[in-house]
Amino acid sequence: MREKLEQLAKAMTDELAGVKTLAELQSFEVEKLGRKSEFNALLKGLGGLSPEDRKTVGMAANRLKQEVQAAFDAKKAELESTSAGALADAERIDVTVPGIRPPQGHLHLTSQAISEITAIFRRIGFSRVRHPEVDWDWYAFESLNMPGDHPARDEWETFFVDAPNDPKKGKMVLTPHTSNGQVREMEKRKLPIRMINIAKCYRRQIDVSHVPMFHQFEGLLIDRHVSVTHLKGVLDHFAREFFGPDRVTRLRPFHFRFTEPSFEVDISCGICGGTGKLEGGAKCRLCKEGWLELGGAGMVHPNVLKAGKIDPEEWGGFAFGWGVERTMAMKSGVRIDDIRVLYKSDFRFLKQF
Ligand code: FA5
Repeated sequence: MREKLEQLAKAMTDELAGVKTLAELQSFEVEKLGRKSEFNALLKGLGGLSPEDRKTVGMAANRLKQEVQAAFDAKKAELESTSAGALADAERIDVTVPGIRPPQGHLHLTSQAISEITAIFRRIGFSRVRHPEVDWDWYAFESLNMPGDHPARDEWETFFVDAPNDPKKGKMVLTPHTSNGQVREMEKRKLPIRMINIAKCYRRQIDVSHVPMFHQFEGLLIDRHVSVTHLKGVLDHFAREFFGPDRVTRLRPFHFRFTEPSFEVDISCGICGGTGKLEGGAKCRLCKEGWLELGGAGMVHPNVLKAGKIDPEEWGGFAFGWGVERTMAMKSGVRIDDIRVLYKSDFRFLKQF
């Protein structure tokens, strides 16, 4: 019996040496070391031996069992460590590999300009306000001293909305300028006013320098004792901040129904330095005799103040309204030959800025 046990133990240790996976080892454990195994059956047979033999064979059997168990444990440890290693290798993440950057977009050129314009005026006390972009005729024209039959209104080439008229405020329009915000701001009844209204405007126009949807920024200041000098100071401040320290503005007499006096505002040309001539005497290709036209401005007309229920004897102010697209196209570094390209969603153009 002792011999049989020794043979069996040797066969088991040899078999263990050949085991390659944890699954094989598990089957081995059940078949060869379990309750129903041959080895166990032999151990149970010890009871039938003489007391003398039972003692010696029993001791030998115990030693053999411990040897097989030790070989089994060693194999188990070996397989567990290699399989953990294999798993770690397969699932290894190298945290030092540089990440993949998702493509990053940026604000549209017009939005960038709007942020910059807002910041420049905010620093001198103007608050950005919002007013409707679809508004009544009253705010867009009538309250601005532009009666319905006035020929000046033809210049605004307005889109009218197919909606019922308001008995007092007239037709609904897509705002053709941001001046509709003037009387709306006055109606808030908070004086003095320092607003900058930036919004979309709509006109029936399209060519290299006109788009049917564009943006204007409208400044309105209402206070006591306001003069053209204040207007000029604010315009020069904007020109220096937005275009560069050496740029200045000039006011040319003009006519708007809602301002008196009215002006067209020009800015000195950044290419020829305001001379109209390039080095060598050639004519500047960008400007007219050293100046570029920026937009309209003027002192708020008393009739507009009255429409906003403000006493023109006590209060006065100035207003200006310029196109965002044209203003930014004049900034050096931004070359836009045809402003329609801004709204064509052409990434080849937009990605440059
Ligand atoms: C006005 O709209 C006046 N409301 C400006 C104003 C406000 C004057 C306050 C006095 C006091 P005008 O029609 O000139 O003015 O337009 C102003 C600017 O808007 C133009 O100089 C131009 O830069 C821009 N603009 C006008 N139409 C278009 C268009 N179709 N596409 C792009 N920009 C335009």
